[in-house]
Amino acid sequence: MTPQQVRLIKESFAKVAPIADRSAGLFYARLFDIAPELRPLFKADISQQGRKFMATLTVAVASLENFDQLKPGLRALARQHASFGVRAENYGPLGEALIWTLQQGLGEAFTAETREAWQAAYAAIADTMKAA
Ligand code: HEM
Repeated sequence: MTPQQVRLIKESFAKVAPIADRSAGLFYARLFDIAPELRPLFKADISQQGRKFMATLTVAVASLENFDQLKPGLRALARQHASFGVRAENYGPLGEALIWTLQQGLGEAFTAETREAWQAAYAAIADTMKAA
């Protein structure tokens, strides 16, 4: 991620933060549309799960310029995910649902450049988790 990409991610995330709850709802609806086979993995209340996911994303976005410091936490999260039954190939649909949700929340503000920045950030997060 370039410093410009980090800036774009922070600016765009700040715009969706006020609608985080609604975005999380849209996000899971989209995820289960794309990959219905993932629905049974989620046992807990999905709106609570949405808040946990957004909280993790908030921390990750805030620390993007120190990505190395995020890695130990992401690795621990990934091992927990393996025990939930999550597999490496499941990270793709989740990334797609995330990009789609940002597009819904941001509309025209979700420029091609901002999309690329988010794709780079999600790839960095997902690659770290998959490697663990
Ligand atoms: C950027 C990547 C991801 C982040 C930041 C993330 C974040 C989280 C967090 C914070 C939790 C809550 C853990 C806890 O309760 O202690 C969680 C749980 C979970 N995540 Fe993820 N996750 C990611 C990717 C995925 C993927 C790819 C899947 C695939 C389906 C997935 C499925 C789940 C499931 C099934 C749970 C447990 C929910 C339950 O117990 O009902 N996550 N995730």
